[in-house]
Amino acid sequence: MSLVFHAQPLTRAIEAVVAAGGSEPREARLVAENLVMANLLGHDSHGIGMIPRYVAALLEGGLSANRHPAVNLDLGTLLALDGCQGYGQVIGLEAMELAIERARRHGSCIMTLANSHHLGRIGHWAEMAVAQGLVSIHFVNVISHARVAAHGGADARFGTNPMCVGIPLPGEAPFLLDMATSAVAQGKMRVAYNKGEKVAPGLLIDDRGNPSEDPRYAVVPPLGAILPFGGHKGYGVALACELLGGALSGGGTWHYEESSKQRVLNGMLAIVIDPARLGTGPQFAGESRQFLDWLRKSAVGPGFDKVRIAGEPEREMRARREKQGIPVDEATWAEIQAAGAKLKVKKETLQQLAEGR
Ligand SMILES: NC(=O)c1ccc[n+]([C@@H]2O[C@H](COP(=O)([O-])OP(=O)(O)OC[C@H]3O[C@@H](n4cnc5c(N)ncnc54)[C@H](O)[C@@H]3O)[C@@H](O)[C@H]2O)c1
Repeated sequence: MSLVFHAQPLTRAIEAVVAAGGSEPREARLVAENLVMANLLGHDSHGIGMIPRYVAALLEGGLSANRHPAVNLDLGTLLALDGCQGYGQVIGLEAMELAIERARRHGSCIMTLANSHHLGRIGHWAEMAVAQGLVSIHFVNVISHARVAAHGGADARFGTNPMCVGIPLPGEAPFLLDMATSAVAQGKMRVAYNKGEKVAPGLLIDDRGNPSEDPRYAVVPPLGAILPFGGHKGYGVALACELLGGALSGGGTWHYEESSKQRVLNGMLAIVIDPARLGTGPQFAGESRQFLDWLRKSAVGPGFDKVRIAGEPEREMRARREKQGIPVDEATWAEIQAAGAKLKVKKETLQQLAEGR
């Protein structure tokens, strides 16, 4: 069973929980808007369902309210920032504002960000740059729990390390490739497990490293591991995220036995480029246009309705959910209410806010 909430009142409800955790009003609004936007775009695994984890991290001391990025190094086009374990929704925003300003001024900016709490959808940060006509490239690692195996490995060694490339396009919404480097999101394994369903082959190994279609190996001990996407190639991209997002940023890599901590830290390398300053502006726009027109003349394959580019599925979902509302399953909503209660927000208050009453 799913409840359905509209984005605006749902944002008010989530904002109330974050504010009860001690966040100033701007931070509570930014966190709530960011999470609800992930739901609107169809990425429920990175939406309001994160709130129980955030509240647990806050109470544990692994997430701190009202933090801003600290500048460790500023060479104009080279920035090294520390997120101070603050809400990624504020740290990511302020870090990207700095990188975007530098890219506009100098033509490009390379920015590292260490120790941010969960940055959510990485596409959110690329979208900020793309909205100003900039290209934005991101490599991110995750310090939380090891869930993904090495290619050829038989146990989990690192997180779902996302990467993202945002490219502004002439006359249409941007190309926005925003993806975990695991073959499938951890959240999708939990859903399958709760429904008692098997998952597709090639996504998962069991606790002995054998291929498995039983999602329990991604959810309850004895744990196996999720595989990287695309065999050895996706595995390589996942490692690039760990080395660039974790090691190069100074935030650190995952090299621990399992941890019981609830905080999710992200390290990120962001590269922001102003195409207008590169001197290839007209070719960039013209060639992009010609390529996309050519691509879309592609014959449609069996089982598909059209050829899309990255970013389109999310925009289609957003249009639907803005009209029809956001479905939230009852278990997730109960967990959010329980998390709110830990911060003394009454269940009834949350329900009323989310229903816009
Ligand atoms: N902060 C973190 O620690 C963390 C960790 C992992 C993932 N994430 C986020 O999780 C989100 C979900 O990641 P995911 O890998 O499950 O996403 P996904 O598999 O749903 O989509 C990946 C990409 O493929 C594109 N795509 C999907 N269907 C397509 C189609 N038919 N044609 C063309 N392109 C298509 C999407 O637009 C998207 O850019 C992302 O926003 C990611 O940043 C965050």
